[in-house]
Amino acid sequence: VFRSKLTFFAAAKVSSSFPPPEVSEIAFAGRSNVGKSSLMNALTRQWGVVRTSDKPGLTQTINFFQLGPKPCLVDLPGYGFAYAKEEVKDAWEELVKEYVTTRINLKRVCLLIDTKWGMKPRDQELINLMEKSQTQYQIVLTKTDTVFPVDVARRAMQVREALKKNKSIVQPVMMVSSKTGAGIRSLRSVLAKVPRF
Ligand code: GTP
Ligand code: MG
Repeated sequence: VFRSKLTFFAAAKVSSSFPPPEVSEIAFAGRSNVGKSSLMNALTRQWGVVRTSDKPGLTQTINFFQLGPKPCLVDLPGYGFAYAKEEVKDAWEELVKEYVTTRINLKRVCLLIDTKWGMKPRDQELINLMEKSQTQYQIVLTKTDTVFPVDVARRAMQVREALKKNKSIVQPVMMVSSKTGAGIRSLRSVLAKVPRF
């Protein structure tokens, strides 16, 4: 699947403009600047289709990308972005929450966590919601190139330990760098096994 051509499909600011739930979706969630858009580019090897930026908060809508004839990759707006206006921030967060808890064709959420900074309250909040709605999610540690390998291992262990009682989590914790390409192939093969994806 990941060799197929990636094309922009739809952008939604409100749930009423989500495309019809016809095909399986894998979504990428996480704090602003954690590397969601970069990871989607790295996974599909199609740089530039999904926009990335140094400025946090670039992705302000839920963006749907079609991969080949059917499956969809979904780029979610990041949360925890400090500079946005309060009301704008709240609107994005509500939209993300609604999407991850109610979307029936959503097969997997990749929750990205920056390896250097670890899990934050906002991440935990989203995890709690997904546990409640029984949304299948997995943790992806990003930017592993920015810390020592021993710190990557330590972070993975810490996250695994913190979430070991959770039910909707899909193990194992994945570790990637979109910059060096480390871990990208493994994540690609894990995601290719997502049911009907
Ligand atoms: P929002 O759309 O604001 O929520 O951000 P995002 O999560 O989509 O992050 P994005 O992919 O735009 O990347 C944010 C910044 O982190 C950019 O400057 C990227 O170049 C950088 N970045 C992304 N992945 C990596 C990585 O694996 N290693 C390093 N060192 N930098 C990365
Ligand atoms: Mg983005």
